[in-house]
Amino acid sequence: MSVDMEKLVALCKRKGFIFQSSEIYGGINGFWDYGPLGVELKKNIKDAWWHDMVRNPPPGPEGQEISMVGLDCSIIMNPKVWVASGHVGTFADPTRKCSKCGKFVRADQLWAILAESDWVNSLIQEFTPVTGHYDAPLLMKWAQGKGKKVAPNLALVRNPHVVLSFLATRVNGQPDAPPTLQEMTQYIATEQLEATGLQDPCPLCGAPLGEPKPFTLMFESHAGTEQTEDTKVYLRPETAQGIFVNFKNVLDSNRLKLPFGIAQVGKAFRNEITPRNYTFRSREFEQMEIEFFCHPDESMKWYEYWRDVRKAWYSKLGIQSERLRPREQGPEELAHYSKACTDIEYMFPFSDEPQELEGVAHRGAYDLTQHQKHSGKDMSYFDEGLWATSDKSAYGGDKKKETEAKKNVPFRFTPHVIEPSAGADRFTLAVLCEAYHEDTAPDEDGKPQTRVVMRFHPRLAPIKAAIFPLEKKGEMAVKATALYRELKHDFAVEYDDSGSIGKRYRRMDEVGTPWCFTIDGQTLQDDTVTIRDRDTLQQERMKMSDIAAELRKRLRST
Ligand code: GAP
Repeated sequence: MSVDMEKLVALCKRKGFIFQSSEIYGGINGFWDYGPLGVELKKNIKDAWWHDMVRNPPPGPEGQEISMVGLDCSIIMNPKVWVASGHVGTFADPTRKCSKCGKFVRADQLWAILAESDWVNSLIQEFTPVTGHYDAPLLMKWAQGKGKKVAPNLALVRNPHVVLSFLATRVNGQPDAPPTLQEMTQYIATEQLEATGLQDPCPLCGAPLGEPKPFTLMFESHAGTEQTEDTKVYLRPETAQGIFVNFKNVLDSNRLKLPFGIAQVGKAFRNEITPRNYTFRSREFEQMEIEFFCHPDESMKWYEYWRDVRKAWYSKLGIQSERLRPREQGPEELAHYSKACTDIEYMFPFSDEPQELEGVAHRGAYDLTQHQKHSGKDMSYFDEGLWATSDKSAYGGDKKKETEAKKNVPFRFTPHVIEPSAGADRFTLAVLCEAYHEDTAPDEDGKPQTRVVMRFHPRLAPIKAAIFPLEKKGEMAVKATALYRELKHDFAVEYDDSGSIGKRYRRMDEVGTPWCFTIDGQTLQDDTVTIRDRDTLQQERMKMSDIAAELRKRLRST
């Protein structure tokens, strides 16, 4: 089923999953707040990731245990970190500025942003622009009417006669090669064709855009009382660098041997030029990153392991396989130091193209080498096991020769890194899109009714179970309260005694609660309750004393 984003966004607000940040002041572009249910959902996602990747990762390619530890670094670090990583010099997106309204647009996303703009949609409503065919009188009517309101600076609106005559010359001049939609748009955005060539229009007002210029995505601040170049700091744009700069600390304090991974979950900040598609591209977001350090000779094996493990994780948590699209990057897309990279993409309802949830990148020795160069600190690894078992006869017992040998390969080397880097907010959005369903279920009178049901994987569901006493007071309420108090020690559960049972089920379906327990007359006789399944709508009776163990079993990760 294709999800209607408007309905999903409305549900997220109505039920307290996601709110616009600072909404009472008109919001702020690119920032979002998670409400009471959203914070549980996102926390369950981060907890599932930590549990499945850090505490209990799947066995390695030869069935071996995987060594993983965690880290929690500061958001603001020494700015030299970002010089070494390359972010200060190059972490920028190409941007174009509107010559009239001053709006900035990300150059590489211009046509997708234009397709969503008010004036393009207004034009499309007037006439469907079929390649090579256009209706000049209709365009003129639009330019002199609606166009003035929605795209006042568009060439077609400012000077329709000239623009339409350019377009007519082009269409009639090359009847065998009709203009594409993009070319048509450029024509209607161009006032002085001979002087300027074809122009690209601003998605907000239609005026021509300037040339692409790099725009840094780094958020800046200052540490301390002085606001000078020397006190300038950055909000981290990724959690990864905190791991690299702590590589030696973690290695030395934990008796770790290669291969091993260091994981971190935390906030990252990017001053995105065009935040869009709900929370998909935000300016503040959370990442779940692993840097897996290994021997260079084994790096491709570990790259394949992590690519497969990470893809399987999304499927395990309920993402339908056909919407999940791992995409191996071509050689032209790879960074110069990278041997391979797979983007794990998801077909979001707001786009015709799959969009990145996570990148699994082979980063070679790039990051450790950069930090070694810039900090002057040794970032290499010494293979004690190899040294202990190696044949040392060639050194003839000469300690100097041995010391020299220990400085070099194969005993000392810079590890290679495999980096699975996931976005907690992007996966939360994918989980919300995937969960949203409308189906038909009978109400208490047996009449079929449309219901909205969020089919979250039980491990991710914000509320695991709801407890409904059939009566508000008396013995049923006493039993229901006792069950609620027992379960809430270990699970996120909710007690609901208001309205009919049918209405209570609907409320729980809408927020994706997998199971509802009803305490009724029979409970008072034999201490059993009904358990109703959100997805199958089946009901069965279960002993109250078995419920906690049963929930634990159903929620255990597999
Ligand atoms: N350390 C590697 C790194 O940061 P990235 O592809 O730039 O790689 C990793 O980011 C993940 O972080 C992305 O796959 C995405 O899930 C998430 N992410 C990146 N930018 C984001 C944004 N503006 N809003 C939400 N999530 C974002």
